[in-house]
Amino acid sequence: MSSSPNSPIVCNLPRVTIVGAGRVGSTLAQRIAEKNLADVVLLDIIAGMPQGLALDLMEARGIEIHNRQIIGTNNYADTSGSQIVVITAGLPRKPGMSRDDLLKTNAKIVVEAAKNAIAHSPNAIFIVVTNPLDVMTYLAWQATGLPRDRIMGMAGVLDSARFETFIALELGVLPADVKAMVLGSHGDLMVPLSRYATVNGIPITELLDAATIERLVQRTRNGGAEIVELMQTGGAFFAPASATSMMVESILLNQSRLLPVAAYLQGEYGLEDVVIGVPCRLGCGGIESVLELTLTDEERKALHTSAQFVRQNIERSHEILAN
Ligand code: NAI
Ligand code: 2OP
Repeated sequence: MSSSPNSPIVCNLPRVTIVGAGRVGSTLAQRIAEKNLADVVLLDIIAGMPQGLALDLMEARGIEIHNRQIIGTNNYADTSGSQIVVITAGLPRKPGMSRDDLLKTNAKIVVEAAKNAIAHSPNAIFIVVTNPLDVMTYLAWQATGLPRDRIMGMAGVLDSARFETFIALELGVLPADVKAMVLGSHGDLMVPLSRYATVNGIPITELLDAATIERLVQRTRNGGAEIVELMQTGGAFFAPASATSMMVESILLNQSRLLPVAAYLQGEYGLEDVVIGVPCRLGCGGIESVLELTLTDEERKALHTSAQFVRQNIERSHEILAN
């Protein structure tokens, strides 16, 4: 049917659903709305909580000067037609816990969230944030049956931002001038690529000695735990929300940014049937390509060790889900 000049104009604004309206989810909602990227649906199992957060965010719109809608709900029907679904539902770490201690509780939550969300938004691109990140992304990939370009995990952007922060602090330079890439799993076995880290194109190996770089690498590996130990009441959420919002932006605005993303590998880096952080080009179709960097033998070995650890935990999670 053709539209007449008097037909009402229908504005299809992009919609992002965030499952889990806790600290990461609610901060991400704020970032997306205040950047004017999309309308946001915040979903949580706690009755009233996402509705209250959404109202609070809506009441800030006049001051922050944007007109995005933020809806809070406990019902997946309200998420229908989302372009992007971000899963942050699940428990965060307590002091002394590793991300993998979260496996037991979060596997069931993520599988249920992924199945419910895909049923209402079959064309969405999914970003998983819940820990242990690489395993949860794999489970969500299985639960949704999505092609690998439409499902990914957020961790590398955060880990790289931490590495960049520590380099900037050490050198006393603007953090935005530092570029670094952290690959591998989101945990102690992550693979920060010092060789590729630069300050406005100058390799950090020209600016810092090997012992200092190693200290910054170790602090990056321990980045999440350092914050948990300090806060004692949960994990980081400001930088995780910023990192996720960067991925959402690259997809919604088709920016084709080259970012470290937890992706399902199909032979790249000699790895298959595992989710792990690698450089990906993110655009409106999701993961548009996976970049295969030339790695040293040591870096490649570290990536494979990291992948092996993720594989073991995928197997553990399958046992947990079967019981
Ligand atoms: P939080 O405890 O503040 O929020 C989690 C929310 O999930 C809660 O509001 C809870 O009610 C909700 N939830 C639990 N089960 C649910 C279900 N079945 N359906 C819908 N909602 C459900 O935790 P926070 O700090 O927001 O962290 C969320 C997750 O993200 C954790 O697993 C944490 O470890 C992870 N994380 C991952 C990062 C990464 O780099 N990938 C960085 C930071 C956090
Ligand atoms: C972080 O790295 C806990 O994974 C979370 O802060």
